[in-house]
Amino acid sequence: MNVLVIGSGGREHAISWKLAQSKKLSNLYVAPGNAGTKEVATNIDVGVNDFEGLKNAVLKHTIDLVIVGPEDPLVNGLVDFFLKDDQTAHIPVIGPQAEAAQLEGSKEFSKRFMQRNNVPTAGYESFTKDNLEEGYKYLESLQPPFVLKADGLAAGKGVVILEDLNAAKSELKAMLADAKFGDASKKVVIEEFMSGIELSVFVITDGKDYVILPEAKDYKRIGEGDTGLNTGGMGAISPVPFADEIFMKRVEEEVVIPTIEGFKKENLPYKGFLFIGLMNENGTPRVVEYNVRMGDPETEVVMPRLKSDLLEIMQAVGDECLGDITVEFENKTATTVIMVSGGYPEAYDKGHEISGLDKTEGSIIFHAGTKEDNGKVVTNGGRVIAVTSYGADFNEALQKSYKNTAIIDWERKYFRSDLGFDLQEYLN
Ligand code: AMP
Ligand code: GLY
Repeated sequence: MNVLVIGSGGREHAISWKLAQSKKLSNLYVAPGNAGTKEVATNIDVGVNDFEGLKNAVLKHTIDLVIVGPEDPLVNGLVDFFLKDDQTAHIPVIGPQAEAAQLEGSKEFSKRFMQRNNVPTAGYESFTKDNLEEGYKYLESLQPPFVLKADGLAAGKGVVILEDLNAAKSELKAMLADAKFGDASKKVVIEEFMSGIELSVFVITDGKDYVILPEAKDYKRIGEGDTGLNTGGMGAISPVPFADEIFMKRVEEEVVIPTIEGFKKENLPYKGFLFIGLMNENGTPRVVEYNVRMGDPETEVVMPRLKSDLLEIMQAVGDECLGDITVEFENKTATTVIMVSGGYPEAYDKGHEISGLDKTEGSIIFHAGTKEDNGKVVTNGGRVIAVTSYGADFNEALQKSYKNTAIIDWERKYFRSDLGFDLQEYLN
C-alpha cells in the first residue's frame, strides 16, 4: 500500500516510523514532513491546508490511504473535500469529517455533545459580546479558579485559568469585546474548575467499533514543577501509573462508550483517532476536552508501545472492520523528553545546526521542528526533538532519554529534567 501522512511534527514522525515497520507498506509519503520523516518516508512539499495540492499528491503517487496528523485540516474539511471529489472519494482518509471535527473546533459544540450523551464533564455556560453582562454574573456565581475558554481553535492558547474574579471579568471582556484570540474568542465557554490529575486517553474508531490505545501523561508547562507558560507539550509518559484497571474500566464505560454511541446516535461519521483529555479526581474520570487527532508528544510514546501493525489497524478503520482485528500493546513503559528552542513558547530562533543526532544510544529520536539545510539538520520550530526510551518503569526510561538529551545539542536548547516528578508516589 502507498500511504500519505499529513503533518510535520513529532507526532507525524512517530506515526511514519511505526508505519515504516509494516510489511504491507510499499511507499510512504509525508506532507510536508521534517528532517526526521525523511529518514523513513519521502517528504512532499505541500502544506496541511493546501487541499488541492494534497489531492494532486495523492493522485500522482497513487496513494491508497491517507492519515491526517493535525486538527487544522480536519476542522477545515479535508476529509469532506476528499469524499466529495470523484477522483479521491474511494481513498480512505483517517480523520473525522468537519462536522465531528467540531468536537475540537468548537468548545461549545463539544460541551453540548457531552451533555446530550451523558459524558461526565464540568458544568458550563457560553457567552458572546452581546451578553457580556450575563457572563460577569455567571462568573460571580462560581468559585475560583475561573476557567475561560475561547470557543474556536487558538493554537492551544485559548484556555485561561484565573484565581481572581476581577481578572476573570477583564479576561472575558478581552476575549469577547477585544477579540483577544480573534474569531476563536467570539464565543467564550466559562466552566467549573475541575481538580484532580490529568491524563490523555486515545481511542481509534471506525465509527462502529473502537480500540483504546495506551494512555499517556503529558507535561504541558515550560517550567520544572509544572510552572510557567503552557506549551504544546514538554514530554510524555505511558502507561500512566495511576490509570489502573479499575480507573480505565470507568473511563471506558462512562466516557468512551457513551462517546462512540453518541457518534452513532447523532449520525456523526467518525473514522479516526479520538484524544480524550481527562481529569481523574479520586478515581472519577471527567472530560476536559476532546481532540480529533492523536496528541503530540503523546504519540511519541503511544506508537512505540503499539505491538500490532499500525497499517493493518488503519486499513481496518478505513474498511470499517476494526472489530475483526486484535490490537496488542507492549507492557514496557515508554517516555519521551521534548527538547525545545530557547525562548519557546515565546519568541525563539530557527536555523541552529543540531549536533549529536548520530551519537545517541538506547533511544528513538523523533524529529518535531527540524529541517534539512544543505545536508545539515537545523532547528525549525519551538519543539525540536523528542527523545523516546523504553524502561521497566518511567524512571528507568527517562534516565535513558536524559543521557541522550545531553548528547544532542544546539545553541540555546532547553528541556525539562523533572518529568515524572508528580508520579513517583504512584510507583510500587
Ligand atoms: P483544554 O484546551 O480544554 O484542554 O484546556 C487546556 C488545559 O487547561 C487543560 O489541559 C487543563 O489543564 C486546563 N483546564 C481546562 N479546563 C479545565 C477545567 N474545567 N478545570 C480545570 N482545569 C482545566
Ligand atoms: N499534548 C497535547 C496535545 O496534543 O494537544
